[in-house]
Amino acid sequence: MKDEEVFTTSSAAGTAKLGKHLAARLRAGDCVAMTGGLGTGKTALVRGIAVGLGLADQRMVSSPTYVLVQEYQAALPVYHLDLYRMTAPEAELGELALEEMLADGVVLIEWAERAQAALPRPRWEIDIAITSQRGRRFTMRRVEDSADAFS
Ligand SMILES: Nc1ncnc2c1ncn2[C@@H]1O[C@H](COP(=O)(O)OP(=O)(O)OP(=O)(O)O)[C@@H](O)[C@H]1O
Ligand SMILES: [Mg+2]
Repeated sequence: MKDEEVFTTSSAAGTAKLGKHLAARLRAGDCVAMTGGLGTGKTALVRGIAVGLGLADQRMVSSPTYVLVQEYQAALPVYHLDLYRMTAPEAELGELALEEMLADGVVLIEWAERAQAALPRPRWEIDIAITSQRGRRFTMRRVEDSADAFS
């Protein structure tokens, strides 16, 4: 069985705090793929992760609208992708040179369900569910690279 970790929050600030907590686990080469649908709190979580990774000004973090990738200069580069507006997300993700981003930084992907087959491995997946107006449940799991996929 896959190991899963579940976290719950009850405010956007709580989600940012969770992001800071999770940032302590992240190193260059890590990818976090977020799923869950509209308004679940993906950007709020990214904000917390980026701050946890050393970004001074969290106001810089918003969903990339006019560019495919936003890069934040934290203690290491943080690459923020949002697949929501991509018309062909798997193809577009494939053209983005994720390997180069992962060589020196952390890659955070919103709407990862739109490009499931093109996501980097290994990666963290965080699925977010809305449990009440301000309640959110985060289910985190590790997806290993293909060589380990059946272990
Ligand atoms: N526990 C919570 N965690 C995060 N956001 C919350 C929470 N409770 C309420 N909210 C609200 O939900 C919204 C989440 O917005 P956010 O942009 O982070 O979501 P998103 O998943 O990135 O949305 P989108 O699908 O548009 O990219 C905000 O308005 C925020 O204030
Ligand atoms: Mg968002």
